[in-house]
Amino acid sequence: MASLKNVLYLGVCLSWTVTTADGNVLPKAENVRWMSLDFKIIVAWTIKPSDYKYTVSYSSEDTDWTQSLQCIGISHSECDLTDQLRPWDRSYIVKIQTEPDVDDYNGLDLGEFPYTESTPFNPYRETNISAANFNVTVVDESRVLVTITDLLSASRDGKKQLTLRDILKNDLKYKISYHRFGNTGKRDIISDSSTAEVSKLDAGQRYCFMVAAFIPSRPKSTQQGAWSNQQCTPEGSSVVQELTLGAWVGVVFILLTVFGIIITVTFLCCRRYRQKNTSQSSAPV
Ligand SMILES: *[C@@H]1O[C@H](CO)[C@@H](O)[C@H](O)[C@H]1NC(C)=O
Ligand SMILES: *[C@@H]1O[C@H](CO)[C@@H](O)[C@H](O)[C@H]1NC(C)=O
Repeated sequence: MASLKNVLYLGVCLSWTVTTADGNVLPKAENVRWMSLDFKIIVAWTIKPSDYKYTVSYSSEDTDWTQSLQCIGISHSECDLTDQLRPWDRSYIVKIQTEPDVDDYNGLDLGEFPYTESTPFNPYRETNISAANFNVTVVDESRVLVTITDLLSASRDGKKQLTLRDILKNDLKYKISYHRFGNTGKRDIISDSSTAEVSKLDAGQRYCFMVAAFIPSRPKSTQQGAWSNQQCTPEGSSVVQELTLGAWVGVVFILLTVFGIIITVTFLCCRRYRQKNTSQSSAPV
């Protein structure tokens, strides 16, 4: 009986070793996806709750696989490749390999473990671009200056954090969309630089503006960054300035009169209310 048990145990052990060696029992990483915003580049995958480890390698256009130094034998399910995928304008593939969670890696042959490959990703052409900050300054009645701050990328060159302009250079344009306040008809212009003058505006009208990074050299689906919040020229600034002193005195006089009337009415009402109350309480019970 005891020997039969031993044989069974041996059999179980043998089959475990065999299947692990040919990689059948280790689950592959699933749902491998790229997440990239302003040149921050993360590859993520889905893991079954288990005690496995993962090693990430990348390769571009037929180069050898390079292991990502921060992502060797990791137990979480994403890897930051922001500082590794260079040059930007290349198509990269990532390989995520599943490994058993053992203390001693000596003698483990990574070549035998199962892996999943990602779809190709080109940071220069596919990273998403967030919304840019900008200001509008009124130049004169028909012209407005739009000043856009180039977004910072997630990448550094030594100490300096690179802007999108540092990376995309002349490929970076901006789309400026504007419309008259309270009007739905929009007009778009494309600006090569981060400062643009919008002219031929109707005098005395308020205008509202939105901007988005625009990269015409990219495939259509990734050409445009996120739209910024809308900014409008100040409300009726010209009207306020044009009021004469006399007009201001008039405005103040009207306000004072209205205020006086409100106080008088309140006072009269209160007095009548109080009189009514007093007469009631003094009435014979
Ligand atoms: C870019 O944004 C779109 C829309 O939010 C999203 O579907 C896509 O996965 C993003 N791409 C990357 C590379 O993060
Ligand atoms: C807009 O103007 C404010 C105040 O003058 C300034 O702090 C900010 O940096 C400006 N932003 C841009 C995009 O020029």
